[in-house]
Amino acid sequence: MSCRVRSLSLPVCLLLLLLVSFSHAGLRHRAFTAASGGSSTDKFSSRVAGGQVSDVKAAPYQVSLQNSYGNHFCGGVIIHDQYVITAASCLAGLRKSNVKVVTTTYNDWGLDGWAYDVEEIIPHCNFDQPLYHNDIALIKTKTLFLYDEVTKNITIAPLEDLVEGEKLTMYGWGSTTAGGDFEWELRQLDLSYVPTAKCNATYGGTEDLDLGHLCAVGRLGAGACHGDAGGPLVDSQGRLVGVGNWGVPCGHGFPDVFARISFYYSWIQSTINGCSIS
Ligand SMILES: *[C@@H]1O[C@H](CO)[C@@H](O)[C@H](O)[C@H]1NC(C)=O
Ligand SMILES: *[C@@H]1O[C@H](CO)[C@@H](O)[C@H](O)[C@H]1NC(C)=O
Repeated sequence: MSCRVRSLSLPVCLLLLLLVSFSHAGLRHRAFTAASGGSSTDKFSSRVAGGQVSDVKAAPYQVSLQNSYGNHFCGGVIIHDQYVITAASCLAGLRKSNVKVVTTTYNDWGLDGWAYDVEEIIPHCNFDQPLYHNDIALIKTKTLFLYDEVTKNITIAPLEDLVEGEKLTMYGWGSTTAGGDFEWELRQLDLSYVPTAKCNATYGGTEDLDLGHLCAVGRLGAGACHGDAGGPLVDSQGRLVGVGNWGVPCGHGFPDVFARISFYYSWIQSTINGCSIS
Protein backbone atom coordinates (compact mmCIF):
# COMPACT_ATOMS: atom_id res chain seq x y z
CA MET A 1 0.00 0.00 0.00
CA SER A 2 1.29 3.42 -0.78
CA CYS A 3 0.49 6.70 0.84
CA ARG A 4 -1.51 8.09 -2.01
CA VAL A 5 -3.34 10.84 -0.18
CA ARG A 6 -1.06 13.73 -1.01
CA SER A 7 -2.87 16.32 1.02
CA LEU A 8 -2.37 14.53 4.31
CA SER A 9 0.39 15.72 6.55
CA LEU A 10 3.33 13.35 6.85
CA PRO A 11 2.56 12.12 10.39
CA VAL A 12 -1.04 11.40 9.44
CA CYS A 13 0.13 9.67 6.32
CA LEU A 14 2.54 7.50 8.26
CA LEU A 15 -0.11 6.60 10.78
CA LEU A 16 -2.45 5.64 7.98
CA LEU A 17 0.24 3.57 6.34
CA LEU A 18 0.98 1.74 9.53
CA LEU A 19 -2.50 1.25 10.79
CA VAL A 20 -5.08 1.67 8.11
CA SER A 21 -7.56 -1.14 8.59
CA PHE A 22 -8.99 -2.39 11.84
CA SER A 23 -9.12 -5.86 10.43
CA HIS A 24 -6.07 -6.67 8.40
CA ALA A 25 -3.40 -5.33 10.66
CA GLY A 26 -4.85 -7.38 13.47
CA LEU A 27 -4.23 -10.84 12.10
CA ARG A 28 -2.46 -11.97 15.19
CA HIS A 29 -4.60 -14.23 17.26
CA ARG A 30 -4.49 -15.55 20.72
CA ALA A 31 -4.38 -19.28 21.02
CA PHE A 32 -7.91 -20.48 21.58
CA THR A 33 -6.79 -22.71 24.41
CA ALA A 34 -5.17 -20.07 26.57
CA ALA A 35 -7.46 -20.03 29.54
CA SER A 36 -6.84 -16.71 31.19
CA GLY A 37 -9.15 -13.75 30.84
CA GLY A 38 -8.31 -10.34 29.47
CA SER A 39 -4.65 -9.68 29.87
CA SER A 40 -4.89 -6.02 30.76
CA THR A 41 -3.97 -5.40 34.34
CA ASP A 42 -6.14 -2.35 34.85
CA LYS A 43 -9.58 -3.03 33.45
CA PHE A 44 -10.98 0.40 34.10
CA SER A 45 -8.34 2.55 32.54
CA SER A 46 -7.38 0.04 29.90
CA ARG A 47 -8.46 0.44 26.56
CA VAL A 48 -11.66 -1.46 22.22
CA ALA A 49 -8.81 1.23 23.16
CA GLY A 50 -10.02 3.34 26.05
CA GLY A 51 -13.27 1.46 26.59
CA GLN A 52 -14.76 -0.62 29.34
CA VAL A 53 -15.92 -4.22 29.67
CA SER A 54 -19.51 -4.62 28.49
CA ASP A 55 -22.34 -6.08 30.50
CA VAL A 56 -23.36 -9.54 29.28
CA LYS A 57 -26.67 -8.20 27.98
CA ALA A 58 -25.35 -4.92 26.60
CA ALA A 59 -24.95 -6.02 22.98
CA PRO A 60 -26.88 -9.26 22.37
CA TYR A 61 -26.64 -8.66 18.60
CA GLN A 62 -22.82 -8.75 18.58
CA VAL A 63 -21.22 -11.83 17.04
CA SER A 64 -17.63 -12.93 16.67
CA LEU A 65 -16.51 -13.98 13.19
CA GLN A 66 -14.05 -16.81 13.59
CA ASN A 67 -11.90 -18.92 11.32
CA SER A 68 -11.87 -22.70 11.30
CA TYR A 69 -9.40 -22.72 14.20
CA GLY A 70 -11.82 -20.82 16.41
CA ASN A 71 -9.89 -17.56 16.31
CA HIS A 72 -11.76 -14.27 16.35
CA PHE A 73 -10.93 -12.01 13.41
CA CYS A 74 -13.78 -9.51 13.16
CA GLY A 75 -17.04 -8.44 14.70
CA GLY A 76 -20.45 -8.80 13.12
CA VAL A 77 -24.03 -7.83 13.95
CA ILE A 78 -27.25 -9.86 13.86
CA ILE A 79 -29.80 -7.78 11.93
CA HIS A 80 -32.19 -10.52 10.88
CA ASP A 81 -33.12 -14.07 11.88
CA GLN A 82 -30.60 -15.44 9.38
CA TYR A 83 -28.28 -12.53 8.50
CA VAL A 84 -25.29 -10.81 10.02
CA ILE A 85 -23.85 -7.56 8.75
CA THR A 86 -20.12 -6.88 8.86
CA ALA A 87 -17.32 -5.20 6.91
CA ALA A 88 -16.53 -6.69 3.49
CA SER A 89 -12.81 -6.26 4.22
CA CYS A 90 -13.20 -8.80 7.02
CA LEU A 91 -14.19 -11.50 4.55
CA ALA A 92 -12.01 -10.70 1.55
CA GLY A 93 -10.38 -13.86 0.27
CA LEU A 94 -12.14 -16.12 2.76
CA ARG A 95 -14.21 -19.12 1.77
CA LYS A 96 -17.56 -19.51 3.47
CA SER A 97 -16.52 -22.93 4.74
CA ASN A 98 -13.73 -21.24 6.71
CA VAL A 99 -15.95 -18.71 8.46
CA LYS A 100 -18.09 -19.33 11.52
CA VAL A 101 -20.56 -16.90 13.05
CA VAL A 102 -20.28 -17.30 16.81
CA THR A 103 -22.83 -16.00 19.29
CA THR A 104 -21.36 -15.90 22.73
CA THR A 105 -23.11 -16.61 25.94
CA TYR A 106 -20.88 -14.68 28.32
CA ASN A 107 -19.46 -11.98 26.01
CA ASP A 108 -16.22 -13.94 25.92
CA TRP A 109 -15.46 -15.17 22.41
CA GLY A 110 -13.31 -17.99 23.73
CA LEU A 111 -15.97 -19.49 25.98
CA ASP A 112 -19.12 -21.46 25.20
CA GLY A 113 -21.26 -20.14 22.40
CA TRP A 114 -23.11 -21.24 19.32
CA ALA A 115 -21.24 -21.51 16.05
CA TYR A 116 -23.31 -21.06 12.90
CA ASP A 117 -22.17 -22.28 9.51
CA VAL A 118 -22.25 -19.85 6.62
CA GLU A 119 -24.66 -20.35 3.75
CA GLU A 120 -23.54 -17.34 1.75
CA ILE A 121 -21.15 -14.39 1.96
CA ILE A 122 -22.51 -11.34 0.13
CA PRO A 123 -20.04 -8.45 -0.11
CA HIS A 124 -21.27 -5.16 -1.56
CA CYS A 125 -20.67 -5.39 -5.30
CA ASN A 126 -18.65 -2.15 -5.21
CA PHE A 127 -16.55 -3.08 -2.20
CA ASP A 128 -13.10 -1.43 -2.45
CA GLN A 129 -14.07 0.41 -5.64
CA PRO A 130 -12.50 2.78 -4.93
CA LEU A 131 -10.35 1.48 -2.10
CA TYR A 132 -12.00 1.60 1.37
CA HIS A 133 -15.43 2.38 -0.08
CA ASN A 134 -18.57 0.25 0.29
CA ASP A 135 -16.87 -1.86 2.94
CA ILE A 136 -19.99 -3.72 3.94
CA ALA A 137 -21.14 -7.32 3.60
CA LEU A 138 -23.95 -9.63 4.66
CA ILE A 139 -23.50 -13.17 5.86
CA LYS A 140 -26.41 -15.56 5.54
CA THR A 141 -26.21 -18.36 8.07
CA LYS A 142 -27.32 -21.91 7.26
CA THR A 143 -29.77 -21.92 10.12
CA LEU A 144 -31.87 -19.38 11.97
CA PHE A 145 -30.38 -17.76 15.04
CA LEU A 146 -31.58 -19.12 18.34
CA TYR A 147 -32.64 -16.03 20.24
CA ASP A 148 -32.38 -15.79 24.00
CA GLU A 149 -31.52 -13.19 26.63
CA VAL A 150 -28.04 -12.68 25.22
CA THR A 151 -28.72 -13.32 21.52
CA LYS A 152 -31.03 -10.90 19.72
CA ASN A 153 -31.21 -8.98 16.48
CA ILE A 154 -30.84 -5.22 16.30
CA THR A 155 -32.97 -2.77 14.36
CA ILE A 156 -31.06 -0.97 11.63
CA ALA A 157 -31.44 2.79 11.30
CA PRO A 158 -33.29 3.56 8.07
CA LEU A 159 -32.72 7.30 8.05
CA GLU A 160 -29.88 9.67 8.72
CA ASP A 161 -30.80 11.85 11.68
CA LEU A 162 -27.60 12.12 13.68
CA VAL A 163 -26.49 15.45 15.08
CA GLU A 164 -22.96 16.62 15.77
CA GLY A 165 -21.69 15.43 19.14
CA GLU A 166 -24.46 12.85 19.56
CA LYS A 167 -23.36 9.93 21.71
CA LEU A 168 -22.85 6.64 19.86
CA THR A 169 -21.55 3.43 21.37
CA MET A 170 -19.22 0.96 19.69
CA TYR A 171 -18.56 -2.62 20.79
CA GLY A 172 -15.73 -4.98 20.00
CA TRP A 173 -13.23 -7.59 20.99
CA GLY A 174 -10.46 -5.61 19.33
CA SER A 175 -7.14 -5.16 21.02
CA THR A 176 -6.76 -2.40 23.57
CA THR A 177 -3.42 -1.28 22.18
CA ALA A 178 -1.93 -1.19 18.68
CA GLY A 179 -0.36 -4.54 17.98
CA GLY A 180 -1.85 -6.04 21.14
CA ASP A 181 -3.77 -9.30 21.36
CA PHE A 182 -7.52 -9.31 20.99
CA GLU A 183 -9.52 -9.01 24.15
CA TRP A 184 -11.45 -12.02 25.45
CA GLU A 185 -14.24 -9.96 26.94
CA LEU A 186 -16.41 -7.66 24.87
CA ARG A 187 -15.69 -3.98 25.37
CA GLN A 188 -17.65 -0.87 24.66
CA LEU A 189 -16.78 2.74 24.16
CA ASP A 190 -18.80 5.92 23.81
CA LEU A 191 -17.94 8.06 20.80
CA SER A 192 -19.35 11.34 19.49
CA TYR A 193 -20.81 11.70 16.03
CA VAL A 194 -18.68 13.80 13.68
CA PRO A 195 -20.36 15.22 10.57
CA THR A 196 -18.73 14.08 7.35
CA ALA A 197 -17.31 17.45 6.27
CA LYS A 198 -15.61 17.93 9.62
CA CYS A 199 -14.33 14.36 9.58
CA ASN A 200 -12.92 14.88 6.11
CA ALA A 201 -11.16 18.04 7.25
CA THR A 202 -9.60 16.15 10.17
CA TYR A 203 -8.17 13.67 7.69
CA GLY A 204 -6.91 16.52 5.53
CA GLY A 205 -9.52 15.91 2.82
CA THR A 206 -9.30 12.34 1.65
CA GLU A 207 -10.94 10.55 -1.25
CA ASP A 208 -11.12 7.53 1.03
CA LEU A 209 -14.16 9.10 2.69
CA ASP A 210 -17.55 9.23 0.99
CA LEU A 211 -21.19 9.59 1.98
CA GLY A 212 -21.39 5.89 2.74
CA HIS A 213 -19.08 6.48 5.70
CA LEU A 214 -19.94 7.66 9.19
CA CYS A 215 -17.37 9.19 11.53
CA ALA A 216 -17.32 9.14 15.31
CA VAL A 217 -14.53 10.12 17.64
CA GLY A 218 -13.57 9.20 21.19
CA ARG A 219 -11.46 11.16 23.62
CA LEU A 220 -7.73 10.95 22.99
CA GLY A 221 -6.54 7.43 23.69
CA ALA A 222 -9.97 5.92 23.03
CA GLY A 223 -11.12 4.39 19.74
CA ALA A 224 -11.57 1.37 17.57
CA CYS A 225 -8.56 -0.91 17.40
CA HIS A 226 -7.47 -4.03 15.53
CA GLY A 227 -10.19 -6.70 15.58
CA ASP A 228 -13.02 -4.18 15.88
CA ALA A 229 -13.80 -4.10 12.15
CA GLY A 230 -17.29 -5.26 11.28
CA GLY A 231 -18.60 -4.52 14.76
CA PRO A 232 -21.56 -2.35 15.72
CA LEU A 233 -21.95 1.36 16.31
CA VAL A 234 -25.26 1.97 18.05
CA ASP A 235 -27.24 5.13 18.80
CA SER A 236 -28.96 6.01 22.07
CA GLN A 237 -32.22 4.49 20.81
CA GLY A 238 -30.44 1.17 20.40
CA ARG A 239 -30.42 1.22 16.61
CA LEU A 240 -27.49 0.12 14.48
CA VAL A 241 -26.05 3.17 12.68
CA GLY A 242 -22.60 1.94 11.65
CA VAL A 243 -20.30 -1.03 11.08
CA GLY A 244 -16.55 -0.69 11.81
CA ASN A 245 -14.45 0.14 8.74
CA TRP A 246 -11.19 2.05 9.07
CA GLY A 247 -9.34 4.89 10.72
CA VAL A 248 -6.17 5.46 12.64
CA PRO A 249 -6.72 2.64 15.11
CA CYS A 250 -6.43 2.63 18.84
CA GLY A 251 -7.31 6.15 19.82
CA HIS A 252 -4.84 8.55 18.22
CA GLY A 253 -7.42 11.30 18.18
CA PHE A 254 -8.70 10.77 14.63
CA PRO A 255 -12.35 9.87 14.06
CA ASP A 256 -13.10 6.20 13.53
CA VAL A 257 -14.83 5.53 10.24
CA PHE A 258 -17.82 3.20 9.97
CA ALA A 259 -20.01 2.12 7.08
CA ARG A 260 -23.17 4.24 7.38
CA ILE A 261 -26.15 1.90 7.75
CA SER A 262 -28.74 4.44 6.55
CA PHE A 263 -26.78 4.89 3.30
CA TYR A 264 -26.85 1.14 2.66
CA TYR A 265 -30.35 0.57 3.99
CA SER A 266 -32.00 -0.24 0.69
CA TRP A 267 -29.08 -2.44 -0.35
CA ILE A 268 -29.45 -4.37 2.90
CA GLN A 269 -33.21 -4.71 2.56
CA SER A 270 -33.18 -5.75 -1.06
CA THR A 271 -30.31 -8.18 -0.53
CA ILE A 272 -32.18 -9.90 2.27
CA ASN A 273 -35.72 -9.65 0.94
CA GLY A 274 -35.20 -9.53 -2.78
CA CYS A 275 -37.54 -7.13 -4.51
CA SER A 276 -40.50 -8.00 -2.34
CA ILE A 277 -41.89 -5.17 -0.26
CA SER A 278 -41.64 -5.98 3.43
C1 LIG B 1 -35.88 -9.82 15.26
O1 LIG B 1 -36.23 -10.72 16.30
C2 LIG B 1 -37.62 -10.76 16.61
C3 LIG B 1 -37.80 -11.73 17.76
O2 LIG B 1 -37.04 -11.31 18.85
C4 LIG B 1 -38.41 -11.19 15.41
O3 LIG B 1 -39.78 -11.13 15.69
C5 LIG B 1 -38.11 -10.28 14.23
O4 LIG B 1 -38.73 -10.77 13.07
C6 LIG B 1 -36.61 -10.23 13.98
N1 LIG B 1 -36.32 -9.25 12.95
C7 LIG B 1 -35.75 -9.58 11.80
C8 LIG B 1 -35.55 -8.47 10.83
O5 LIG B 1 -35.39 -10.70 11.54
C1 LIG C 1 -13.28 14.68 1.22
O1 LIG C 1 -12.34 15.53 0.61
C2 LIG C 1 -11.79 15.03 -0.60
C3 LIG C 1 -10.74 16.04 -1.07
O2 LIG C 1 -11.31 17.32 -1.16
C4 LIG C 1 -12.87 14.81 -1.61
O3 LIG C 1 -12.33 14.23 -2.77
C5 LIG C 1 -13.92 13.88 -1.04
O4 LIG C 1 -14.98 13.74 -1.92
C6 LIG C 1 -14.43 14.42 0.28
N1 LIG C 1 -15.36 13.46 0.87
C7 LIG C 1 -16.60 13.81 1.22
C8 LIG C 1 -17.47 12.73 1.77
O5 LIG C 1 -17.05 14.93 1.12
